[in-house]
Amino acid sequence: MEEYPSIKVQYDVEHASNRYELQSGTRKRIYLSLLELLDTYPYLKNQNIVIFGAGRCVDLPMDFICDMFSDIVLVDINTLALEEVKQYIQEKDKNKVSFFTFDVTGMRQLIVEEFDKRKPGSMDEIMKFMQDMAANIPVLA
Ligand SMILES: C[S@@+](CC[C@H](N)C(=O)[O-])C[C@H]1O[C@@H](n2cnc3c(N)ncnc32)[C@H](O)[C@@H]1O
Repeated sequence: MEEYPSIKVQYDVEHASNRYELQSGTRKRIYLSLLELLDTYPYLKNQNIVIFGAGRCVDLPMDFICDMFSDIVLVDINTLALEEVKQYIQEKDKNKVSFFTFDVTGMRQLIVEEFDKRKPGSMDEIMKFMQDMAANIPVLA
């Protein structure tokens, strides 16, 4: 198995000096989970993969993911976070990765409008606001 730089060194919380180092343990755990997944379902290797809520991908072993899958589609509501991912993609893999800014719940507009209307201030109001919003997501209701 090739050595993947993204999982090579693990920092503990005290010695991590940035967000990427801080997530080194998570990257290793996700790497191990993916290895297990691909071991159980080998036909998934070289298939396409869509990662919802990919964000900055600091917690994902992108070098391994790019090696294991064919096309990698990263989806997140936050365009700026997706922009940051590019620094974690090796030059040779850049043509395999695509980026989509997309709200997977379709609720962004509603949440922003409702937040502006209610302006929750206290912790109780914020909790109530979040519960009310979650109730609008069919799968969580
Ligand atoms: C726990 S973070 C994932 C962290 C990410 N892997 C990273 O390393 O930065 C969850 C991600 O989900 C995204 N997200 C939250 N709501 C979303 C939505 N409705 N549609 C798409 N992405 C969403 C956030 O922008 C955030 O990047």
